[in-house]
Amino acid sequence: MPKKRVLSGMQPSGKLHIGNLVGALQNWVKLQEKYECYYFIADWHALTSQYADTSNLNEYINDVLINWLSAGLDPEKSTIFVQSRIPEHAELHVLLSMVTPLGWLERVPSYKEKQMELKDKDLNTYGFLGYPVLQSADILMYKADYVPVGIDQMPHLELTREIGRRFNNFYGNIFPEPEGLLTRFPKVPGVDGRKMSKSYNNCIYLSDSPDEVEQKIKTMKTDPQRQRRNDSGDPELSPVFELHKIFSNKDEQDEVAEGCRTAGIGCIDCKKILIKNIFSILEPIWEKRRHFIGKPGIVNDIIEEGNKRAKKDAFNTMREVKNAIGL
Ligand code: TRP
Repeated sequence: MPKKRVLSGMQPSGKLHIGNLVGALQNWVKLQEKYECYYFIADWHALTSQYADTSNLNEYINDVLINWLSAGLDPEKSTIFVQSRIPEHAELHVLLSMVTPLGWLERVPSYKEKQMELKDKDLNTYGFLGYPVLQSADILMYKADYVPVGIDQMPHLELTREIGRRFNNFYGNIFPEPEGLLTRFPKVPGVDGRKMSKSYNNCIYLSDSPDEVEQKIKTMKTDPQRQRRNDSGDPELSPVFELHKIFSNKDEQDEVAEGCRTAGIGCIDCKKILIKNIFSILEPIWEKRRHFIGKPGIVNDIIEEGNKRAKKDAFNTMREVKNAIGL
């Protein structure tokens, strides 16, 4: 039995943080053992909302790539590539757009939601409306069986299946139906307790130095009831405890929760345990980052090789597609 195929992408819309790591990346690394994996940097998708300022785009693409490799994506096991380097994605996008009813796109929940959320940007554009068509092209191009994504992306996957089905109805059975692999993971809170997001300025980045990480955690707010060392508190009111729930083992969670309620442990000591645990996840990544940053040639070779492999698949799919349409 050939291995089933997994595909997923990430927008290079900022530096990667530990929320990206535990929410997606660690899962992608695991999937490599069981599936044939395709992982790509969706730089055109980033343009749909950040077209007005592309000054950081290259830096972010590079940061994502180095972090992927440092977190354990393995070019021997996975095809790692950059969307814009495979222009076939644009070709398939335009062909899929022919059969995609406007109503389907206007109904995608993220369309209106993102427009409301990113009020400072003008997302009244053709490219933004077509975002999920481009995503469908990414997925259908490689005939992916599974697409690991968070819950917010599920409607895009449903749309991908619908577009694929409609295309197949017109031109014959070309595209299999991809399935979402829902990555179930609690949202990682930032150092202020809100969702970790670069727009809130509350992230712990993979590229932060040990000192920066330590400083960010040490200055986190805790339960406001614990003004003095002897005041008891409620761990559930402390954003530090929310991070313990993700990064500390059960015994440590129990220990700090109990210590918080009884004032048996101070906030500093509680934070020290968290710092130790986040360090133990980040240390191997930091080490690999140093390796890759010092050898940009290696990173470049890896991406060129991945682009080449992706290109071959894309070429084959497009030949099939064009034949089917009669182009
Ligand atoms: N829209 C995805 C996101 O923002 C990124 C993406 C683009 C993607 N193309 C994809 C994810 C194809 C999975 C498959 O997270």
